[in-house]
Amino acid sequence: MKTEPPQSSIAIVSSEDRFQLATYKKMPIAAVRGKGVWLYTSDDEKYLDLYGGHAVAGTGHSHPHVVAAIAEQAGKLLFYSNLVYSEVRATAAEKLVSIAPDSLTKVFFCNSGTEANENAMRMARLTTGRDNIITFSGGFHGRTADSISATFLGKYRELGKPNVPGHRQAEFGDIESLRAVADETVAAIMLEPIQSMAGVRTATPHFFKELKNLCDELGMALIYDEVQTGVGRTGEWFFAGSGAGGGIVPDIITLAKSLGSGIPVGACLVTEKIASQIKENDLGTTFGGGMVAMAAVTATLEAIENDSMLNNVKEVEAHFRNLMAEIPQVSKVRGLGFLLGIEFKEKAAPIHEGLLERKVITGTSSDPNVLRLLPALCLSASAMDLFARELKSVLDSLGSKRKA
Ligand SMILES: Cc1ncc(COP(=O)(O)O)c(C=O)c1O
Repeated sequence: MKTEPPQSSIAIVSSEDRFQLATYKKMPIAAVRGKGVWLYTSDDEKYLDLYGGHAVAGTGHSHPHVVAAIAEQAGKLLFYSNLVYSEVRATAAEKLVSIAPDSLTKVFFCNSGTEANENAMRMARLTTGRDNIITFSGGFHGRTADSISATFLGKYRELGKPNVPGHRQAEFGDIESLRAVADETVAAIMLEPIQSMAGVRTATPHFFKELKNLCDELGMALIYDEVQTGVGRTGEWFFAGSGAGGGIVPDIITLAKSLGSGIPVGACLVTEKIASQIKENDLGTTFGGGMVAMAAVTATLEAIENDSMLNNVKEVEAHFRNLMAEIPQVSKVRGLGFLLGIEFKEKAAPIHEGLLERKVITGTSSDPNVLRLLPALCLSASAMDLFARELKSVLDSLGSKRKA
């Protein structure tokens, strides 16, 4: 990134670069505190954050209800594993199941999206007695061995070599390509119902219905990786069961990202049928279901409810679409709710950079023309107006530079 760090961040930037592996392309700012959709840096500059630290800050930065719940729990008991019962864990599990589609009745807690997907695939293999897994071109499922082997996006799968055997690929949205690789040796089909990293691509409700029919026909489990689409991001609690997905509910939903508002936590929601076949020791993870994470989950879901964030997402999404319709350089708005991709007639990277210079944080994707927005679910219409104004000035200044 070309932008120079501000004076007060230089020491932080150079120290972190010196001691931490250089695995990320970072923005040249040092984050210190946040409030809602605003992120404040070491020199007290205020950024409008439409990226939320990779879709994590769903309730906004440091939502007071979530912060209070974490602080209270931290003062009581930071952690004990699943070897003991815990009221805070029982409450989080009940709350999560209560907002899930009716057929998903039990939860397994873990720590991240990739771990949730590994466990979902394991449950599918254990309960079907089959080995193979089908995933789609453009899907991203994580960086641990099985999840990266399931990731047919860019160079990721290559990075995970040697891959876990038994992974098959189909074209996203194409039922015929799916039929070509599906058979009775396949344990599960796993997909991101809206492919975020691939540039916010989704499929038709018809595709999701056909997918479910094929799963039923061949006895394959259906897994929705809702690590990004879950916990209210689409304006519904989950993509599963929504109109956009033809009302289809899978056998397993995986979650992470915004589930704990920033405290690492992942989860698999499963049907009673699957739950009844999972036995002691089939799955496990030391930190899964820890007390602070569980307090964060319950408080996150409560904050979304108390602040009517699902409605807000729908209203502000509609407003956003109107705003984008007035910008000639925008060719299309992709996605749903607050998982949005703005497709431009030009490359998105300079726009992303120009916005950052104007103190607006957005994301890019593997599609060079798509800018991604993954803001907090509490983002207001006036903050969206601000974004649209800044976007127009970036596009105008890029246009004038091209003419000069
Ligand atoms: C759709 C999806 N699945 C899985 C993952 C992996 O999650 P984590 O980084 O928490 O392991 C990600 C992360 O970006 C994701 O976007």
